[in-house]
Amino acid sequence: MTKITAAITAVGKYLPDYVLSNKVLETMVDTNDEWIVTRTGISERRILKEEGKGTSFMAIKASEDLIQKSQIDPKEIDLVVVCTATPDMQAASTAAFVASSIGASNAFAFDMDAACSSFLFGMSVVSGYIESGKYKKVLLIGGDKNSSMINYKDRATCIIFGDGAGAVLFEANTEGNGIQDEYLRTDGSGRDFLRVKKGGSSYPFQIGDVHDEESFVFQEGRTVFKNAVFNMADVSEKILERNNLTKDDVAWLAAHQANKRIIDATAQRVGLDDSKVMMNIAKYGNTTSATLPLLLADYENKLKKGDNIIFAAFGGGFSWGAIYLKWAY
Ligand code: UT7
Repeated sequence: MTKITAAITAVGKYLPDYVLSNKVLETMVDTNDEWIVTRTGISERRILKEEGKGTSFMAIKASEDLIQKSQIDPKEIDLVVVCTATPDMQAASTAAFVASSIGASNAFAFDMDAACSSFLFGMSVVSGYIESGKYKKVLLIGGDKNSSMINYKDRATCIIFGDGAGAVLFEANTEGNGIQDEYLRTDGSGRDFLRVKKGGSSYPFQIGDVHDEESFVFQEGRTVFKNAVFNMADVSEKILERNNLTKDDVAWLAAHQANKRIIDATAQRVGLDDSKVMMNIAKYGNTTSATLPLLLADYENKLKKGDNIIFAAFGGGFSWGAIYLKWAY
């Protein structure tokens, strides 16, 4: 029997219009453009400013971009997964709203959250459904309105995060393209180093509560940085070894865009020069679940059928991993 793999057949993206530059951040917190660029590689990020608009707004726009470019009929989609750490509401599926809004009326839908590894883990979930033969077309969206949980008085976090969404269509493939292998990890002992505490079930809001620091993203940057550098490089190296790939076999590294220094360290460990490293952190900052699909959307024109792409991510939890995929078009 021919093996079915899960291949990417279309991509789309959405970024809010408002640009929050390092220069503007200089007027908000004690920081400067030079520090931010040197330490993170970020020059600007996008922010979804309009009141009442959440992650679903960006996810719908990214999906519409994909639908318009690929001319797919949304009724053919079997499943819509929205990867996000910032759902529209605490208890109502963002994905269900997105699926209905884009006309995917024959699909079921659910949200997934593994912090900055959400999209990577989502790729694993989607490939399982497709490889089993259960579903043929799955829309995987990564979107986050990080600005909804950032304290713009905290220079340790507000300089890093931005808003955005990317959408990717996975389809059953019998040519051997698509997802080849994955190596995914978590370590729950890391959860206090990067978190939003208040509003969760362990620390619910009480009537009369005011927002304080615990209502926003807290990050112990140095610890997260060290773990990210070590683990992202480690899984990237492992996935190459496991699949007998040398650096010359790899066409692209698509790594989570949290800090340029983390991406550079990963590329260095597996011996890839800059020309093979997808990078858009300078323009968007860290968009959490959206970084990987946004990379694909920005590099789509450069990708060739059969290209070996290594995806890698590290995020809160801790959660991290790598996926090896062959580009299908
Ligand atoms: O996507 C999920 C995973 N997240 C990540 O992977 C993020 C990982 N962490 C990082 O990217 C980095 O740790 C940061 C960018 C957050 C911080 O960079 P760093 O090089 O680790 O800086 P640091 O926290 O070690 O701070 C170095 C110095 C400190 O001053 P002193 O103690 O040396 O006097 C900070 O107070 O830089 C200071 N500092 C700043 N200065 C100007 C911290 N933030 C800023 C700032 N502007 N925004």
